Amino acid sequence: MITLGVESSCDETSVAVLKNLKILSNVIATSLKMHSKHGGVIPEIASRMQLESIAPVFKEALENAKIGPKEIDLISVTQGPGLPGSLLVGLSFAKALSLSLNKPLIGVNHIYSHVYANLLSHKNTRLPAVALVVSGGHTSLFYIKNFSDYRVLGKTCDDACGEAFDKVAKIMGLGYPGGPLIEKLALNGNKNKVKFACSGTDNELDFSFSGIKTAVLYYLKDKKNSPGLKRDLSASFQESVVNTLVSKSLAACKKKKVSSLLIGGGVVANRYLRERISAQAKASGINCYYPDINLCMDNAAMVAALGGYLYKKGRRSNLDLNIVSN
Ligand code: KG4
Ligand code: ZN
Repeated sequence: MITLGVESSCDETSVAVLKNLKILSNVIATSLKMHSKHGGVIPEIASRMQLESIAPVFKEALENAKIGPKEIDLISVTQGPGLPGSLLVGLSFAKALSLSLNKPLIGVNHIYSHVYANLLSHKNTRLPAVALVVSGGHTSLFYIKNFSDYRVLGKTCDDACGEAFDKVAKIMGLGYPGGPLIEKLALNGNKNKVKFACSGTDNELDFSFSGIKTAVLYYLKDKKNSPGLKRDLSASFQESVVNTLVSKSLAACKKKKVSSLLIGGGVVANRYLRERISAQAKASGINCYYPDINLCMDNAAMVAALGGYLYKKGRRSNLDLNIVSN
């Protein structure tokens, strides 16, 4: 089965072609550079760029996959959550394609597609599993019996994890997106320089990242923001965030008595997180899976993959499909 995926929930415009779980193409255009001077995504700029890029990105995806539009069997599109204007661009495009090509349409959840991205890299992922999704807009722990049944175990009470990276980077004057910049600086920093801690939560599997962001702000207030300090702060901040993600994920696995942990979302592109969480999971007898690094950030291949799975389970959407922004 050939599935076309369309993703436009934030600042990326992506179209992918999958033959079952084999990626034939996965084209991603981003308006990231246009947002960097603002320290975060400006929704109006993102959706205008998406309007301009969706048709060329679609064309390139078909060319790279060496298929014509008529060969598409299914169109899978991100329904939400995400930025309303951005989601509408992808959804409207997907609906128009579905109508003109007379092909079935399916709307998928963006967060679940980050988890399903694991199937593109590991075909034999074992369920039931606990899944951790850490992105710019979301931080959640799920219990998954099958890929159409997600139960929330915990979520952030304030900032998302990626958002915390972005805000801390902004506080240090690094630019946007903050995650990769902090990770790079942390490589040469002292992670024990400052003992930051993520705030406690009533539900032990919930998260809170806004306190640590403020702690970085106050720490910097009376100090000279030198390159050395930025490196140490990056390493110390990253260390405490990773400690929290690792300990809560493993606690969730223990609570649900599962031996599979799936992680996904933009923050999983962080090599230090991937290494720490897989090493500590292994030590507890848990298999930790994460997608290939290029499939962690927003992309349409994961959307096509999840759509294909749900379609086989009998799920269908109509042309009255609407966005779900949160
Ligand atoms: O999943 P994603 O592409 O978009 C959303 O669905 O939000 O995630 C983007 C987020 C941004 O906040 C970015 O700073 C973060 O992922 N991120 C990272 C890294 N690469 C991207 N965070 C930490 N370390 C990284 N290497
Ligand atoms: Zn995402």
